[in-house]
Amino acid sequence: MSRTVVLAYSGGLDTSVCVKWLGEHGYRVVAFMANVGQGEPSAKAVARAKAAGASRVVVRDLRREFVTDYCWPALQAHAVYEGKYLLATALSRPLIAAHLVDVAHRLRASAVAHGCTGKGNDQVRFEVTVRTLDPRLEVLAPVRGWEFTSREQEIDYAKRHGIPIDVSKRSPYSIDQNLWGTSIESGALEDPGTEPPADTYRSIRPPERAARAPAYVTVGFSRGVPTTLNGTPCGPVALVERLNRLGGAHGIGRADLIESRVVGIKSREVYEAPAGTILLEAHQELERLVLDRELLQFKQGVAADYARLVYAGLWLTPLKRALDAFVRETQRRATGAVRLKLFKGTCRVVGRRSPHSLYRERLATYSARDEFDQRAAEGFIKLYGLPYEGSGSD
Ligand code: ARG
Repeated sequence: MSRTVVLAYSGGLDTSVCVKWLGEHGYRVVAFMANVGQGEPSAKAVARAKAAGASRVVVRDLRREFVTDYCWPALQAHAVYEGKYLLATALSRPLIAAHLVDVAHRLRASAVAHGCTGKGNDQVRFEVTVRTLDPRLEVLAPVRGWEFTSREQEIDYAKRHGIPIDVSKRSPYSIDQNLWGTSIESGALEDPGTEPPADTYRSIRPPERAARAPAYVTVGFSRGVPTTLNGTPCGPVALVERLNRLGGAHGIGRADLIESRVVGIKSREVYEAPAGTILLEAHQELERLVLDRELLQFKQGVAADYARLVYAGLWLTPLKRALDAFVRETQRRATGAVRLKLFKGTCRVVGRRSPHSLYRERLATYSARDEFDQRAAEGFIKLYGLPYEGSGSD
């Protein structure tokens, strides 16, 4: 009896060749396709997996789970890697890996496989997550060790084995897409000194060609979860989709980043995350309004650590869980609405309100209604500066 392997299948060249290759190396191959908002897995992709020899294709719609269980916690944590990357690809990997393991268990497979290369972060995310969930599963990564040394050789192999590959549709870039964003790399982007060409714009219009008039949008949050757009309740997937469209039309959410990969190299990638960028601006502003100074500033440090863990594939680790518990606790007050103005690549908060607002106009005002006791400031400053008196001349 041959062993069964469940392969994380994208429909692209690498994973299609993986199906055949694994078959030739003695495995019964089940292709697993996750819909995380990269577009519905097409009938063509399913047919391609079958043509390559998959005994079965399992498709799961994971969009809702992705948004509520992965994007929302990252949003609440303000997880942004190295100051720019909203982690769209990184967030999807532990979800896909968890389902890969689940499918493997249901089908009594002894192995799982992915089509990542040995140079990237995704192999780390997939494998660490799989091993965390079930160390007994064998993990296969054919691309890391197989005989092909170029795309052309893979295309040849596919042709020889009757795997229908659409070579004409091939983009000069490597692109990974989901609801939270698009990651674009390689091709002309490999020269970090070159401006990203126009054809790297995927879901976003270049700001110079963005809508001429500004748009306003109000995002409503309930305990840190985005729940309304312009006052109307909106489900998680629809909310992200709508903000992606709106933000994209206004040129919002591009980033061009030289990033530090887990495996030690620097790489250059362009990111698009219109919805994430708008939601992050809004959520950060809501917290500025409702969190006290100590909590707000402490949480900024947590954000950087949280982003590092997500990036490094440590989604299911004890530290990440502990940070989740902290972030969850901070969201008790994060209810309210934030109004933003979108215009030619910029997204600016123009208004915010919350039932838990810590802003007191009677204390902040410079008008006659001022209730702040200015005389109390004198004693406060004396004691506050006491430890340092005279030390400036030491
Ligand atoms: N560098 C990003 C990350 O490590 C994205 C990786 C996938 N990118 C791609 N264009 N296929 O999360």
